[in-house]
Amino acid sequence: MIEIRRITPADALYEQEAALREQVLLRGAGFDFASFREEYPYEDDAEHFVALTIDSHAGEPIERVLGTALLIPHHPHEGFGKVTQVAVDPQRQGEGIGRRLMVTIESRAFGELGLTEVYCHAQNTAMGFYKALGWQTDGDEFIEAGIPHHRMSIKTPDPVA
Ligand SMILES: CC(C)(COP(=O)(O)OP(=O)(O)OC[C@H]1O[C@@H](n2cnc3c(N)ncnc32)[C@H](O)[C@@H]1OP(=O)(O)O)[C@@H](O)C(=O)NCCC(=O)NCCS
Repeated sequence: MIEIRRITPADALYEQEAALREQVLLRGAGFDFASFREEYPYEDDAEHFVALTIDSHAGEPIERVLGTALLIPHHPHEGFGKVTQVAVDPQRQGEGIGRRLMVTIESRAFGELGLTEVYCHAQNTAMGFYKALGWQTDGDEFIEAGIPHHRMSIKTPDPVA
């Protein structure tokens, strides 16, 4: 069973979140986690979502992080939100974990936070993922951390009549 949970950098699971992000995203862009934090100082402003499994060993729960995604509310302007650091364990990709993380983030963004648009800088190789979730591509390709990206976004759903 996969659970999606919102954590903070003070949570015991944050170390696993950081390790997964380093493995799946950061090393390929030339960062370790410490240098990434220095370059992009938004860890404490972001809401951190993790997908995890909970097993038990000798009666103790063992929680393992299989996916991560961050939402930076009201970035870069009031009413907008940026999704970043979306990563799923390479052994568990293609099982719907990324989709579940994004559904939770959209629900948080458009529900409780009342944002009107959520966007990301999608690596070209991940654009199909966001497209499958109903996101649109905005504008031309650009390079970030040496990797080709596109801005992609989704707007608040229309209110039900
Ligand atoms: C991209 C990523 C987060 C997707 O997570 P995932 O758990 O593997 O994706 P899901 O299984 O939830 O897939 C949801 C949908 O997106 C599609 N999809 C997933 N990854 C895709 C990709 N790279 N290209 C095209 N479509 C993709 C799936 O086919 C599925 O479509 P469907 O529901 O119509 O069948 C994950 O593969 C990953 O960590 N990749 C490496 C890091 C990365 O690129 N992160 C994004 C940086 S912007």
